[in-house]
Amino acid sequence: MNRPHTVLAALIVAAMIIPQSLFASSGGAPLPQEDWRFRGIFGQFDTKALKRGAKVASEVCLGCHSIKYIKFDALRAFGFSEAEIDKMAAAQGRTKKDRMLSAMEPAAAKESFNVVPPDLSLITKARKGYEDYVFGILVGYVKPEEMELVKRVMADDKLTEEELKEVASRLSLDAHHPEKVKETLARIIKGDQFNRYFPGNFFAMPQPLSAGQVEYTDGTENTLPQMARDVVTFLAWAAEPTAPERKSTGHMVLLYLVVLTAMLYAVKKRIWSRVH
Ligand code: HEC
Repeated sequence: MNRPHTVLAALIVAAMIIPQSLFASSGGAPLPQEDWRFRGIFGQFDTKALKRGAKVASEVCLGCHSIKYIKFDALRAFGFSEAEIDKMAAAQGRTKKDRMLSAMEPAAAKESFNVVPPDLSLITKARKGYEDYVFGILVGYVKPEEMELVKRVMADDKLTEEELKEVASRLSLDAHHPEKVKETLARIIKGDQFNRYFPGNFFAMPQPLSAGQVEYTDGTENTLPQMARDVVTFLAWAAEPTAPERKSTGHMVLLYLVVLTAMLYAVKKRIWSRVH
């Protein structure tokens, strides 16, 4: 084996043994670890959460993003009435037979944000951290009390050691680089969109969700983390709408194999019982 091959092999082995989680948060704070009930082979989607999440997605996210692989009338599965589906589609200038496309044209979005908001159909699969990342983005903006803190520490020009530590820990910044922290705080005050989970911290999406924004009719409290969880649940479904079906087929196959194994075992016992 010559040199480049050895190096390449070593790199491949290293990539296999270094935990992916070391990279998962590169540039952003470590992600919140939510307990997603729909994950795993026995994971199930909660239809009520899907219904709430679809409402959040269509009332808020569709304002800028499309979810192009899903049609409005697929939402019927979560218990929306025809009238509700018609209304959601009409809000984007579509009918229920159409795909969930935003009324905002990509060109107009580019004009406003300098970047076209990505389609959300596959977003939970397209980013490191998956659902946790999308959830993190939705809850990762500067909170009002953190904004107060930022304004307070930046009021005079000198950031004391203590202030630096406090503000850095609240915003998940690295206190070892005071200049970088100061620069970040200055941008926050200027009005740039800071998000502790976005790699690099600044991006073009203004905070889309805040507490109480979407009206819930099933008695669930519409806090920010609740709405974020619900819309992420919906987006996880959107990324794989056939998962429930596929899983239940899988369960039947497993059950069949278990029963078959038990029967074959009983037959074997019986046949061999005569042999001593
Ligand atoms: C006012 C317009 C607007 C709304 C409303 C909006 N977004 Fe965004 N979103 C954007 C823009 C613009 C970007 C691109 C940001 C960038 O790359 O700088 C973006 C990016 C994202 C990203 C990708 C971040 C990444 O890693 O590239 C996610 C995830 C996201 N939005 C989720 C949502 C969800 C979920 C909702 C609804 C709760 C929503 N957005 C509502 C404008 C919006």
